[in-house]
Amino acid sequence: MKRAKNRTVNVGIIGFGTVGTGTARILLDKQADLERKAGFPVRLRRIADLDIKRKRGIKLPAGILSRDVEALVRDPEIDIIVELIGGTRAARDVILKALKNGKHVVTANKALLAEAGQELFRTAAKNRAVIGFEASVAGSIPIIKVIRESLIGNSISNIYGIINGTANYILTKMTEEGLDFGTALGNAQARGYAEADPTFDIEGIDSAHKLTILAALAFGIPFSFKKIYTEGITGITPLDIHFASELGYKIKLLAIAKHADGAIELRVHPTMLPADDLISSVSGVFNAIFVEGDATGEALYYGRGAGEMPTGSAVVSDIIDIGRRIVSGADTWLQGITMTARTDLKIKKMDDIRTCYYLRISALDKPGVLSRISGILGSHNISIRSMIQKGRKKEKAVPLVMMTHEARERDMRQALREINRLSIVSGRTMYLRVEGDED
Ligand code: HSE
Repeated sequence: MKRAKNRTVNVGIIGFGTVGTGTARILLDKQADLERKAGFPVRLRRIADLDIKRKRGIKLPAGILSRDVEALVRDPEIDIIVELIGGTRAARDVILKALKNGKHVVTANKALLAEAGQELFRTAAKNRAVIGFEASVAGSIPIIKVIRESLIGNSISNIYGIINGTANYILTKMTEEGLDFGTALGNAQARGYAEADPTFDIEGIDSAHKLTILAALAFGIPFSFKKIYTEGITGITPLDIHFASELGYKIKLLAIAKHADGAIELRVHPTMLPADDLISSVSGVFNAIFVEGDATGEALYYGRGAGEMPTGSAVVSDIIDIGRRIVSGADTWLQGITMTARTDLKIKKMDDIRTCYYLRISALDKPGVLSRISGILGSHNISIRSMIQKGRKKEKAVPLVMMTHEARERDMRQALREINRLSIVSGRTMYLRVEGDED
């Protein structure tokens, strides 16, 4: 293999928003430092964005910013194209074109990878190009590197974590200040922590996109976004936060991947975690990911999951990684992404998972109510661990809160259908899954 000595690695950025600005800032401000540490020069040659007028608080070399995406993708001088436009349609086109032009790509686009990862990596392999995606999950936490490289010698049994800062900020506000969901969301939007359309964050979709990527690397499976059970935080009420706290728990939006007995669980949902679990103390916009490997045991990774500089830092790490391969003459790089489904591993249906549950039933306060409810739970193999009834309102509805032992999701759903039909029960029963509390 030939080594291109003192070869300069040339970079083009498409999408000059928050992360694009952070990436440009690091490449420009730290040019000398990066060269010293990486061992080769890296130059930001072009930036393309539809908006070339808006001030970003950064001084660019003359002539590098334009609206011309096509010119950037075709520019023979550019080695690495950084896609930071987000969304799936235009970004997919740009990445495919760049790969077909023989360029390496760095992207933070978790939605696109989760939904079209197979196609993108297949195209990359065909064109002997590399896709870097450290910035796609958990911003500044180098979790892609950790799972794909550092922990490769492990069979990973358990990954769970907070990988959406917006949702975590909202739940933190609800917990610490007693706000309702709508007010906490408004607060997040006012502080720039949530998009005008926050659907992906609050409905768990963004976390599911990221979990798709982590699971692909951890278990050597294809991108399985459509198989992930996804539930958001919009139904969480201050009452549930209050009961959780009284019972010694926190409510967090968790992304969970487990591997046991030849099957994988992939799920994103609000979860009750013991208050003394390390992940419970992760507040605000921070992210944290717990990973358990058979060789390493338990490990926790914590840091900022979004924002201009933390995510820009992750993008630059990929640029340097790919640059090292360019400069050392490696003409391709095995990405650690599999295209073939594993026949020895099945992804469990949500109905088949087993977990403990929190139930909040709104039931009439009168004799015999509890025995009817517990009778239904018992008939579905669900055993109650503890119970509290709050308040005393004769013949009126009061919240009845129960914690169960481990039960099967299918049984729980069937039991709740029956409970919700009872005339002594008003409204739909709230139920949350509980982690970190195995029987
Ligand atoms: N809204 C996302 C988050 C952005 O808060 O984590 C980073 O992916």
